[in-house]
Amino acid sequence: MRHDLSVRDLDAVELMDAPDADLRMLERTYERFRVVNALVAHPGGLYRRDIRPRARRTLVRVLDIGAGGGDVCRMIARRLRRDGLRGEITALDADERAIRWASARDAGDGVVYRHALSSEVVDAGERFDVIFSNHVLHHLDPSAFDQVLRDSLRLLAPGGVVVHRDIARSRTAYALYSALTLPFASTLLRDSFIREDGLISIRRSYTPRELERSAPAGWSVHARLPARLELRWEQGG
Ligand SMILES: C[S@@+](CC[C@H](N)C(=O)[O-])C[C@H]1O[C@@H](n2cnc3c(N)ncnc32)[C@H](O)[C@@H]1O
Repeated sequence: MRHDLSVRDLDAVELMDAPDADLRMLERTYERFRVVNALVAHPGGLYRRDIRPRARRTLVRVLDIGAGGGDVCRMIARRLRRDGLRGEITALDADERAIRWASARDAGDGVVYRHALSSEVVDAGERFDVIFSNHVLHHLDPSAFDQVLRDSLRLLAPGGVVVHRDIARSRTAYALYSALTLPFASTLLRDSFIREDGLISIRRSYTPRELERSAPAGWSVHARLPARLELRWEQGG
C-alpha cells in the first residue's frame, strides 16, 4: 500500500500503544529497541555532546522522557561509569508495561525507573541537567507535544539542555526502512512491532520545517543523518 508522506498521518496509531497489545510482542519490541536505537538513533552522540561535558563539571542528572525499554538510559549509566563520572539517570514512561519490563533488566546499572507523566515530575519540583527523549515526539498529539515541551523547560536546571530526538519523515526514510527491515521480518524482528510500528512512526513523524513551525520560540531544530531530527533548548544557547 502506498501512503501519502507529504503530511503527518496522525490517524495512524502504533500497535504498541494499544492498551490490549499482545504482551509477548510488546516485550520483544522493548527488547529490540536496543538494536534499532544503536543502528539509527546513535545515542552515543547525545552522551558525548551533551552529557559527558556536564558530568565533567558536576554530578549530572539526566531524565529520559518516554524511555521505553530503558536501553539508552542503561547505556548512558554504563558510559558514565566507564569514564569515571557520576550521574543520576531517570527513565520515565507513561506506560507501566514499559517501566515494569525495563526495571527488571537494570542489572546494576543504577537507573531509576518511574511510571509517570512529565507533568507529575514537575509537580514534585525536580530538576535535571540533561532532559531528552528518543522517538517520542511523533507519538504525541498537539496538546501532549506542547505539554512535554513546557514540562521540559520547567524541569531544566540552570545550564541544562533539552534534546528531543526523533525520526525525520521523508519518502526516502520510509522506503529505506521498509526495504532494510523486510529481510529480518521473519527472523530478528519476528513477534515484535518493530517493523510495522517503525513504518507508522515515519508516517507520524515531522519534517524539519514542520517541527520548526510546531515548536515555540527559543527551540531550535537540527536535521541529522540518517533521517534524524533534534529539537533542542539550551540555556544561554
Ligand atoms: C517508540 S517508544 C520509544 C522508547 C524509547 N525512547 C526508545 O527510543 O527506544 C515511545 C515511548 O514513549 C512513551 N510515551 C509516549 N508519550 C509519553 C508521555 N507523554 N510521557 C512519557 N512517556 C510517553 C510510550 O509509552 C513509549 O514507551
